[in-house]
Amino acid sequence: MRLSERVNKMEFSPIRKFNPIAGAAKASGVRVYHLNIGQPDIETPAAFMEAIRGYDEKVLAYAESPGLTVLQDAIINYFKPFGVNVDRSEVLVTSGGSEALSMVFTSILNEGDTVMIPEPYYTNYRTFIAASGGEVTPITADPDKGYMFADEALLEASYRPTCKAIAVVNPGNPTGTILSTEDMEVICRFAKKHDLWVIADEVYREFAYDGRKMVSFGQLEEYADRVIIIDSISKRFSACGARIGFIIAKNKELNAALMKIAQGRLCCPTLEMLGAAALYQLPSDYFNAIRTEYENRRNVLFEGLSAIPGVKVNKPGGAFYMMVTLPVENAEDFLMFLLEDFRDNGETMMYAPAEGFYATPGLGKNEVRLAYVLNAKDLRRSTEILAKALEAYKNR
Ligand SMILES: Cc1ncc(COP(=O)(O)O)c(C=O)c1O
Repeated sequence: MRLSERVNKMEFSPIRKFNPIAGAAKASGVRVYHLNIGQPDIETPAAFMEAIRGYDEKVLAYAESPGLTVLQDAIINYFKPFGVNVDRSEVLVTSGGSEALSMVFTSILNEGDTVMIPEPYYTNYRTFIAASGGEVTPITADPDKGYMFADEALLEASYRPTCKAIAVVNPGNPTGTILSTEDMEVICRFAKKHDLWVIADEVYREFAYDGRKMVSFGQLEEYADRVIIIDSISKRFSACGARIGFIIAKNKELNAALMKIAQGRLCCPTLEMLGAAALYQLPSDYFNAIRTEYENRRNVLFEGLSAIPGVKVNKPGGAFYMMVTLPVENAEDFLMFLLEDFRDNGETMMYAPAEGFYATPGLGKNEVRLAYVLNAKDLRRSTEILAKALEAYKNR
């Protein structure tokens, strides 16, 4: 028996593949600070659990494939203040942003097609694209320019005739880069010139700092037929385990293609959709306190890292990740040291090594992604551990 070539080409996720090693450390009584994954410690709003507790049907039935209408309508209302008008036929509820991405790549890619993505990128894109027979065409973004990639010359230089789409995460994971309306125009104009889909992953839409106001790709009406918005409640409402996301697209042909896949997988979990609908009814000031909290965490982590000799860090404008260059040759090897050997008062920390966030061979070996999803005290402690571990690693 043989596996598919597609799956053989895939890699394990650098965000999760070290979890068994961290698990062994934890089983031996070590506390591990998890900065490797975007799992916030912010409480999921009570409205989610209350909506689920309030369910009193006798049968937990399948829902319709596009999602519960109460959730679709809540999403439609959420978008109105952004100036994005959508109707139900343009909202497809999915099992997380992850399923949304899988469905989109299955719908648009043929074997050998490629998707342009600024690197470093959210590593799981590679898996979703490979599962559809495609590959990443990287747009290598310069850390010294804040990882900005919305530059016509850079986009043109990265373009290959195999490209079918350009995918951008805004605000960025892992870079935290935020696009302005002008940047978005540059990307869309380029996409139009080469007839590419624009996959706009906006799962971090609420997390823009320093007073910046977020613009959605959905606001660029001129490009509405090629823009595909990926969204999710995971980060927005700290509800990662609910597995509810959605796709907003105006292109009817694409929506029909997506519906074939959606009908094939029947529907999303009914109870979680009810919970999600309740979340979208929270007052919009819910986000203000959360945003302030993340902005503070960003500042704490940035200050802590900047004080460590040899560490190079970019201050992100949004989302809740930071790309960091460490004074080591191989960030995976140093992570193994953290998890297996290094202990400070019975504690250690964990990050995601960033090599898997690049498609270009050789890049990212000494870089890591940190998620500032823990409270300020834990973040301070994590940077303290990192500083001590770097010293111990150097002196091994
Ligand atoms: C940029 C981006 N897109 C999509 C996802 C998928 O999120 P979920 O499947 O939890 O909705 C994530 C999760 O970290 C992400 O960072």
